[in-house]
Amino acid sequence: MKDKFIYGNWKMNGTNADVKAFLKAVDKKSKNEGVRAGLAVPYTALETAVKKAKNIDIIAENVCWAESGAYTGEISIPMLQEIGVKGAIIGHSERRQMFGETDETVNLKAKALLNADMITVICCGETLETYEAGKTNTFVANQIKKAFKDIPAEQARKAIVAYEPIWAIGTGKTATPEIAQDVCAMIRDTLGKIYNKTVAKDIVIQYGGSVKPANVKDLMKQKDIDGALVGGASMVAEDYIELINFNK
Ligand code: G3H
Repeated sequence: MKDKFIYGNWKMNGTNADVKAFLKAVDKKSKNEGVRAGLAVPYTALETAVKKAKNIDIIAENVCWAESGAYTGEISIPMLQEIGVKGAIIGHSERRQMFGETDETVNLKAKALLNADMITVICCGETLETYEAGKTNTFVANQIKKAFKDIPAEQARKAIVAYEPIWAIGTGKTATPEIAQDVCAMIRDTLGKIYNKTVAKDIVIQYGGSVKPANVKDLMKQKDIDGALVGGASMVAEDYIELINFNK
């Protein structure tokens, strides 16, 4: 059985002191057979996080596709690598909705990260309006096709897809395990059609949206859910430890 990938995402929260104290409390307790622990923190706290984390993959919350040049305000993959950061989240709905991230830029970023052999968490997910209109599958499948456009199978198989219905992010409304499973199965099926069943099986599919200690077990029982991308609960040390150790 493949490992479950439980990653936290602190979004625009946390000072260096917060990250230091948090990792002191959680790092040793984040070593757990069958689970890969990860944490995304703001750029300013990444170096501190890398120094303090021994058992947790530290990743960025965004990255630029270009290596260097006239991209004011951006951070490149070599810059992340210089301080030991292992990867990045790309295409989070907050970046798509508020900062102009598109399927095309997600694809450029995915190519650059996978080329550099970095952890690549590609987010997708529909709005409440799309969900209520019954168009989730068409919408998410299209995001997946565009994100993986022209990415060869040997790179694609190392990617992580995070399915995060926007209506479940930070709202306390988790998709039921059945709803989350259905969409994650559809994502795997879509990946199977782009590549093949073996590649689709290798790709880690996380669910994100109000994941917490109380619901993580049921979500992780689902056949096509290989992990979680957790926002709010990942900032509470006790919750993070419980999430990482959900299988004990
Ligand atoms: O990246 C994480 C997601 O946006 C989920 O956030 O767990 O606070 O709902 P949440």
